[in-house]
Amino acid sequence: MTRHLLRDDDLSPAEQAEILDLAIELKKDRWAQKPLAGPQTVAVIFDKSSTRTRVSFAVGIADLGGSPLIISTANSQLGGKETPSDTARVLERQVAAIVWRTYAQAGLEEMARGTRVPVVNALSDDFHPCQLLADLLTIREHKGELKGLTLSFFGDGQSNMAHSYVLAGVTAGMHVRVAAPDAYAPRADVIADAERIAAATGGSVTLVADPEAAASGADVVVTDTWVSMGKEEEKIARIRDLGGFKVTTALMQRAAADAIFIHCLPADRGYEVDAEVIDGPQSVVWDEAENRLHAQKALLVWLLRQD
Ligand code: CP
Ligand code: NVA
Repeated sequence: MTRHLLRDDDLSPAEQAEILDLAIELKKDRWAQKPLAGPQTVAVIFDKSSTRTRVSFAVGIADLGGSPLIISTANSQLGGKETPSDTARVLERQVAAIVWRTYAQAGLEEMARGTRVPVVNALSDDFHPCQLLADLLTIREHKGELKGLTLSFFGDGQSNMAHSYVLAGVTAGMHVRVAAPDAYAPRADVIADAERIAAATGGSVTLVADPEAAASGADVVVTDTWVSMGKEEEKIARIRDLGGFKVTTALMQRAAADAIFIHCLPADRGYEVDAEVIDGPQSVVWDEAENRLHAQKALLVWLLRQD
């Protein structure tokens, strides 16, 4: 059966662990698997800007023996004249998988319903599950087993990253804390889904109003831009509202002594994180950015095996 990755909880705990194991193997030998040899083409579509996602999918698809077709919706019919489902029906006859960075989650769901090839969410307004696979791989490399670790997120609790940390974190059996102002709390349905998953994995999700309490003893400290793509008009209000949730050196000192700092990038130094933290010894953001490559290759290999 065709499988898609539209949101983090599309993967069961066992499936998530299997993909991370595969990523570790592929990181040791980048050219070990060639499921796209032919080469088969993978369409990688962008409605929004990207550096890491564009490069890592293009390089990863080539590593797997395939050919990446990078499409900007600004120069295509998708998003203008043509629906996601009609686009899906055109693409599925020519490509092995569709990777799409877009705005509305509903568009991804329509694309997935309309096609028999795997559809991968390369970031939507709601979730960024590919980034989470890379982040969990990075945490595993630096901390060992994921289960039981405490991950504390600071800032915009409604961002795609916050929602993905909540869902993927509890899937991995982690304790996820979100420190955000009330008006920026994660969506209630995402929290409810996470609580259901956590009940089975032993993880937890907690909303914490006080950033110092949220940082206390954390193994992983994380934040995201305060101004996600599409929110540019809210920039001034967001800087005002989220100012108390910045990751500073003082906040890091409340975390565990061996805590790591992660950030999906791009970062706004001085806003959501101080330069001393993101450029300091506890930051593993460059490992995290590299791991996009290995994690997404593992994801593609896994998805293509499910057909
Ligand atoms: N982290 C991330 O998705 O980066 P890009 O926007 O550069 O792809
Ligand atoms: N939350 C950010 C993530 C960028 C990778 C955004 O959507 O812009």
